[in-house]
Amino acid sequence: METIVDTQRPQYHFLPPANWLNDPNGVIQWQGQYHLFYQYYPEPLPKDFKYWGHAVSSDLTHWQNLPIALAPTPGTPDEGGCWSGCTVDDNGIPTFIYSGFRDGIQTPCLARGSADLVTWEKYPGNPIIAAPPPGIDVRNFRDHAVWKEGATWYQVVGARKEEGMVGQVLLFRSVDLLNWEYLHPIYTAREDPALPYAASSMCECPDFFALDGKHVLCISVWAKDGVYSSYVTGEYVDQQFTPLYSTKLDFGESFYAPQSFKDEQGRRIMWGWLRERRSDDAQQAAGWSGVMTLPWVLNLNEDNSLRIEPAPEVQALRGAHRNWPAMDLTGSVDLEIEGDSLEILAEFAPGENAEFGLEVRCSPDGTEKTRISYNSATGILEVDGSQASLSNDAHRDISRARLDPTGDGKLKLHLFLDHSVIEIFANDRTAITSRVYPTRPDSLEVKLFSAGENAKLLNLDVWTMENIWSES
Ligand code: FRU
Repeated sequence: METIVDTQRPQYHFLPPANWLNDPNGVIQWQGQYHLFYQYYPEPLPKDFKYWGHAVSSDLTHWQNLPIALAPTPGTPDEGGCWSGCTVDDNGIPTFIYSGFRDGIQTPCLARGSADLVTWEKYPGNPIIAAPPPGIDVRNFRDHAVWKEGATWYQVVGARKEEGMVGQVLLFRSVDLLNWEYLHPIYTAREDPALPYAASSMCECPDFFALDGKHVLCISVWAKDGVYSSYVTGEYVDQQFTPLYSTKLDFGESFYAPQSFKDEQGRRIMWGWLRERRSDDAQQAAGWSGVMTLPWVLNLNEDNSLRIEPAPEVQALRGAHRNWPAMDLTGSVDLEIEGDSLEILAEFAPGENAEFGLEVRCSPDGTEKTRISYNSATGILEVDGSQASLSNDAHRDISRARLDPTGDGKLKLHLFLDHSVIEIFANDRTAITSRVYPTRPDSLEVKLFSAGENAKLLNLDVWTMENIWSES
């Protein structure tokens, strides 16, 4: 199928040639190659039954699209869709554990892949877990993270406990990936003031892994204040998880359902799904919906928060470069650069009582712009998309995150503009990803601004970014 051309379509974030994408699934590095599977609907929108799309990369940056890996099979537990799951290496056999969907009910299923991970055969005995344990909602029992300890396989499945409608992450054990014994919940997503953003009536897409001496549980939550993805850092001992810290993985309105894997260098790499923030009609007219984040590299900070950085491989896409040295910030500074495909790395000394930052995707007449500001008095980073687009089809989100100060007091903003995506990493630990849909072809200007006292720019680098599809 021909790739769709559209000014809102990202050029260096992964997305399929057309149609619908949601969660990253089964992400793995296999014999050197990075494989990205994803929830996919291969026909024009609106979406229907879910498939697993597939792409491969040798450098984590440029992708080659491969045939669909999984499709629903009539008369089986996945006849209504092959929902999210993961890949494991079962003694050299690539193996998917995923959620089959039929008549509103989800059951865990298994499929085995060819050596190149291109063709997949479903286990004829599916489902591998016939039903959730008693007390769990059969309509909210899905998504898998599987790992091996010694000779034993473990998996967590996202769930909702019927009593109290509370989200849970359930732990199972197996010796062969086919027969599973239920153990207990490792996490119950109750309201707890000590664990912000981690209460939920359903835990979708659990991901669970060891990182720098602790364990991290990622969950996509249905909370009272919205639907988003969070992480809980804790201790995992004797199959019991004790939470220590939690926050959102990304403070924007688009990020959801992330999944991670450990690559051959031992790095923890993650992608999240960036949902569209424009109307269904606009998505249908565009012919595509959904895009992945850049690959993130995760590490743990001393306070158990995540260190979140874009994978260094993304630097291979850098083109023309400009640098600005330190300057005092007063008023607005037009940087006299333009672009909708840029990497911007800015370091500031925030001062004590200033509001400053960057305006991007600005039209010359100021009718369209997105404002990224930091307030040094309140410690709040804000992405204000209220004037991002003149189109009524676009949501005009304003997203905010409190930024914990770094040891040296500096503010580092690392921005990636990619058409309708603005992905921001602040101080290498707080992510805010936004979707913006400017209508004007000249909404391309980049400016610095400041109000109040004392803020300084310490350094600014801007690169144009190449299209990841140009070589494929
Ligand atoms: C999250 C999710 C998963 C489910 C999949 C279906 O976005 O709802 O819980 O497995 O999408 O596409």
